[in-house]
Order: sequence, then structure tokens, then C-alpha cells
Amino acid sequence: MKNNPLPRLDKDIQLRKKLLEHCRLGPGELWEDEAAGHRVGCLDATDPDAIAMLMDGDRATLAVHDPPYNLIAFDERSIDAYIGWCRLWIENTYAALADDASMYIWLGADQNDGFQPLPDFMIMMRGFDAFAPRSFITVRNQRGYGTQKNWMAVRQELLYYTKGKPRFKVLYTDIPKILKGYYKTVDGRVQENIERSRSDNIRPGNVWVDIQQVFYRMEENVSGCYAQKPLKSIDRIVESGSEKGDTVIDFFSHSGTTLVSCEKLGRRCRTIDNDPVFCEVTIRRLEHFRKTGRTGWQNSHPFEDVIPDKNNAENRDDKGRM
Ligand SMILES: C[S@@+](CC[C@H](N)C(=O)[O-])C[C@H]1O[C@@H](n2cnc3c(N)ncnc32)[C@H](O)[C@@H]1O
Repeated sequence: MKNNPLPRLDKDIQLRKKLLEHCRLGPGELWEDEAAGHRVGCLDATDPDAIAMLMDGDRATLAVHDPPYNLIAFDERSIDAYIGWCRLWIENTYAALADDASMYIWLGADQNDGFQPLPDFMIMMRGFDAFAPRSFITVRNQRGYGTQKNWMAVRQELLYYTKGKPRFKVLYTDIPKILKGYYKTVDGRVQENIERSRSDNIRPGNVWVDIQQVFYRMEENVSGCYAQKPLKSIDRIVESGSEKGDTVIDFFSHSGTTLVSCEKLGRRCRTIDNDPVFCEVTIRRLEHFRKTGRTGWQNSHPFEDVIPDKNNAENRDDKGRM
């Protein structure tokens, strides 16, 4: 089995230098996909002109944003600066959305630092009358950290807001209903709750327990990406909040999960990242999916043409060097 991982693509200076030569987009540039009308931009989410260029008059019915969380792992700033920065891309999202649209935002709460920035963000959002708060979803990871002296940290938070009155499609999980126990008399007959329901399976509700977080053994894994969201979670959002042919936006593309979900589900994705390396990863992930049907690179990575597999003898000279 091959195992050819990459280090974090935002941190490794030497690797970035090499990869930047192979990036199709530089800052301010846009890639257009002829086949399905997707767009990938190397743009800044806080720049209104850049977002206007990305949208080009189109308006999205759904936004799925996963910004950096103001943790040390990303690029920590003061909480005021972070929230001020969020306000800018929320304003740009508002302008890019249709009158009736949904907006989902992934955000964390740092238990070692006053649980910021999640509550600060929620309070900031109260200032946007045009967005109604709809749900506060928790996605439960299967694996966590810090189990000995605290509750194991296994949650990811997802906020759902709406603008106007967008569609909301009810969805079901693959988890069968197993709890019986409450009854109702319908047409003179006592019926079980399970009998009366429309599906044999439970709905996800606002606690999603059926989604595996991405790790290297999964097909969808994109090595070098440090913050990849599970495709199943994005598929759920896209299916519930948009219809075939709709435009979906994501201002923090990274590994391109929203783009791949849109390609699978027949939506048009307009996505950006301000890092040319992650824009290139995003485009390559779409191309790889179209070519192979695979959603990522289990045990490999998107830049095998640039950084070949050092475990593969074919890539070494007669002295075993790369
Ligand atoms: C948490 S990751 C998103 C992960 C993504 N949901 C996925 O599944 O791969 C955040 C991304 O936002 C990008 N980013 C940070 N600041 C940005 C900005 N001002 N404009 C656009 N992208 C930005 C980073 O380069 C990073 O790739």
C-alpha cells in the first residue's frame, strides 16, 4: 500500500515554493470551469470587489463557510479584530445571496480561551437583521482529544441562518429508528410512534452523530489540508438548502469540499481561497473526481506529479535517490 502524505501546505515554506510554480491561480485571479460552470477564485473573502467579480451578477441560494477559527493553529488575532474581520465577509455574503437563501457557518469555541470566538460571533450576528438565526448544529466526531482530565472534545459547531424564506428539504440519516414507547390513537386504533412515521430512519436533527471526520485512511482525504470537512456533512447542507442547478458559494475553499459536493449533486459552485496553493488543490480535486470518481487521495496527495512517491522504486535513481 502506498502512503505518501504531505505536511501542512500552509506551513512548509520550501514545499510551498515548489508548489506555487504549479498553481494556476495567483492573487486576484479566477478559474472558470467550462463543463459545469463552477468558479474558483484566488480572492479575499473580505474584499467586496473580489466577491462581485466572483459572482458576476449571479446570486446564490446557499452559502457554506468554514473560516479559520481564531485558534493558534490558524492565525490567532484579538477577538475584536477577528469579529470585525468576520463582519466583512458576512456583508459580502449578504450581497452574493439571493433574496431567499440559507447560510451555514462552521465555527469553534476554544475551551482554553473563554470559548471564543463562537459566542462573540453569534452576538455579532444579532446585529444583522437580515439574517435570522435558525439552528445551532453540533456534529459529533468519532475521535477526540483530552480524555484524561476533561470531557473528550468531540464536537464541531455549525450555525444555520436564513435570509428571506429559503427552501428547507427534510432529510433522513441511515440510522434506523429503534426507540419505541409512545402511542397515539389514530382512527380508533392504538399506534406506535414508529408505525406512524414517514421513514424507518431517524432525522439528523441538530446533533449529527453519523459523520466520520476525515482521516488519512478515508478515500476523501486530501493530504496537506489541515482543516478538511467531511463530504457527507457538506452534502447534507447542499441537499437540504439548494436545488439542482442552483448556485452555492463557499469563501474558504481549502480542500474544495463544497465544490466536489456541488459537482456530485448538480449545483454550480463559486468558491474562493486567498491561498493559491489551496485554490490549486481545489481545482485538482475536482479534476481528480471527474477522472477517477474518487473524492480524494487516500494514501496519496494532489501533487504527485510534483512530489512523487518516495516509496515507489520507479521514482528513484539507481542510488535510491529521488
Ligand atoms: C478551515 S479552512 C476551510 C476548510 C474547508 N471547509 C474544507 O473542507 O476543506 C479555511 C480556509 O480559508 C482560507 N482563508 C483564510 N482567510 C481567507 C480570506 N480572507 N479569504 C479567503 N480565504 C481565506 C485559508 O487559506 C483556508 O484554506
